[in-house]
Amino acid sequence: MTEFLTLEQIDAVVAAIKAKTKIAPKIGVILGSGLGVLADEVLGAVIIPFGELPGWPVSTVQGHSGRLVLGELMGHAVMVMQGRAHYYEGYSISQVGLPVRVMQRLGAEMLVVTNAAGGVNPDYAPGDLMLLKDHIAFMGMAGINPLRGPNLDEFGPRFPDMSRVYDRELLALAREVGKTLALGLHEGVYAGLSGPSFETPADLRFLRTVGADAVGMSTVPEATVAVHGGMRVLGVSGISNKANLDGNTVTSHEEVLEAGRVLGPKLVRLVKGVLERLPA
Ligand code: HPA
Repeated sequence: MTEFLTLEQIDAVVAAIKAKTKIAPKIGVILGSGLGVLADEVLGAVIIPFGELPGWPVSTVQGHSGRLVLGELMGHAVMVMQGRAHYYEGYSISQVGLPVRVMQRLGAEMLVVTNAAGGVNPDYAPGDLMLLKDHIAFMGMAGINPLRGPNLDEFGPRFPDMSRVYDRELLALAREVGKTLALGLHEGVYAGLSGPSFETPADLRFLRTVGADAVGMSTVPEATVAVHGGMRVLGVSGISNKANLDGNTVTSHEEVLEAGRVLGPKLVRLVKGVLERLPA
């Protein structure tokens, strides 16, 4: 795989998927660490292991199954990624964006992107869900942007607007579902860092000061590619741990996976509720 994606590379994956199924997904879903259970709800599922797709970034992290599930969810044709790859695993940032490009070429118009995140806002507790109102692209600010390289004009412009990454209508719909199902949803700003090391207490106090409510190691690259290609995006963080602003507790991946067991079923109810209310 070259450093920057080409249309040929993207379409090679599209062809590999089309060889296995006629399903034309309208909605793409990315499931973060420990949040894979939503994929079990897909009807008529066609399952493709990531490893069978040319150039697809395969997740090496525990808690990510690494397969694509195509089928129907609440009456919508969907393509669900059970697991995702991260920049810290060693993939180029363009390659991290490949799955979203493939969704776009398959005709998907909407992305639901989820993640496990640390709660930087002191009001957040493990097991809470947060809807993304916006994000801080720390990786992008440092030059690690999936749109770096020749612009793919087929998808969008060289300099895409990022003033409304997370679609306001979808946010309002998710808010309504949260109220109806008493999910106690937060709404906040997600800070995307590269990882894989967790943040220092000073990093976290900095993040809080600049307006972050949650912090994680994903989502921003995929949401950026989605917006560039004209998709509407709904972002959801599962708060897996309280960020350690005072340095008195430690953070571990086990903690993140443990929280996923509580968060997974809540996320299922939220996403199904949103899809149920979306016009077909
Ligand atoms: N920091 C960064 N990424 C994370 C965290 C965290 O505390 N929890 C889950 N993903």
